[in-house]
Amino acid sequence: MLTRIKDLAQTLAPRLIEIRRHIHSHPELSGQEYQTAAYVAGVLSSCGIKVQEAVGKTGVVGELTGQGSDSRLLAIRTDMDALPIAERTNLDFASRQTGIMHACGHDVHTTVGLGTAMVLSQLGEILPGNVRFLFQPAEEISQGAGWMVQDGAMANVSGILSLHVFPSIPAGSVGIRYGVLTAAADDLEITIMGESGHGARPHEAIDAIWISSQVITTLQQAISRTQNPLRPVVLTIGKISGGRAANVIADRVELVGTVRSLHPETHVKLPEWVERLVENVCHTYGAHCQVNYKRGVPSVQNNTALTQLLESSAREAWGSDRVQILTEPSLGAEDFSMYLEHAPGSMFRLGVGYEDKPNYPLHHPQFTVNESAIVTGVVTLAYAAYKYWQHHSS
Ligand code: NI
Repeated sequence: MLTRIKDLAQTLAPRLIEIRRHIHSHPELSGQEYQTAAYVAGVLSSCGIKVQEAVGKTGVVGELTGQGSDSRLLAIRTDMDALPIAERTNLDFASRQTGIMHACGHDVHTTVGLGTAMVLSQLGEILPGNVRFLFQPAEEISQGAGWMVQDGAMANVSGILSLHVFPSIPAGSVGIRYGVLTAAADDLEITIMGESGHGARPHEAIDAIWISSQVITTLQQAISRTQNPLRPVVLTIGKISGGRAANVIADRVELVGTVRSLHPETHVKLPEWVERLVENVCHTYGAHCQVNYKRGVPSVQNNTALTQLLESSAREAWGSDRVQILTEPSLGAEDFSMYLEHAPGSMFRLGVGYEDKPNYPLHHPQFTVNESAIVTGVVTLAYAAYKYWQHHSS
């Protein structure tokens, strides 16, 4: 079966590169993936896959019915949105949309999703179970997965697989991660309200700028002294605004930031922890404050059995020296975690790096991928899907 899947993927490779280049040159921002969705739906229909459009606003769902008595589905999820970045790659098929670029490889993800659908559809009656392909919108704003789930994309799903490109792993190799893969990411907005006054008479005012510096310092120090150092928390204030003139004490400062954590138990406690610290500091110096802590996506926790499935599929397909077991999680965020609240799943990293030229990081205007990785992704996922049902139906 592996040889058959590899042959099918290899035959499809030129078509898949064409698809990827088309998507790459027509990037669309989060929640506006209209043309991409229509294109994806067209490709799926052309290989006889049942398609449902406008799932999760601009998402697409394709379904392939296999043999076997199990009515549940294995889901394979990819994302379709691009970023507000002006491309500087000089590729023939560079973005035709000013200021929008597929700089996070979601063009490759979508192509791998389509390629996997094409390969599995060609297996016909020997596919031992049902597969649902989720093409989600708006991953970059951590919304699309939630929209898809709300529209029923996870109904009757018994497991879910996904991938993300990774430029620091060479094309032809994959990265497998057991346990936590990405961080929970929350948004933080703090408003500190003091009292204005003359810059020469601090005792008659309440200095919101100085108090905000105390708030930031307290939060950073409190992480090191009150959080478990083996359960990392990263708090970054990325924007600060307030004040009017050199000799006027500011009465209002706004802080905006992000809070990242890896452990679910830590994530649960963070809102109250932040609120209490900020309020205590502000009240100590007579200021008022408003803390708006918005819970974002949880961390991605890869399921062990499904991670083993991805690992063994990749090892059989590519050999053990092409499979890296990743020892560290990332503090980046992935809304794949929203699906994991409904079924176990695992996401792997698809190497897209070149070995003979520099690799730019994700979200860089010169980010490019080694397209040979597309076949690696397709075979790994298609074979994992086959093995999943072979195992579950035996
Ligand atoms: Ni991404």
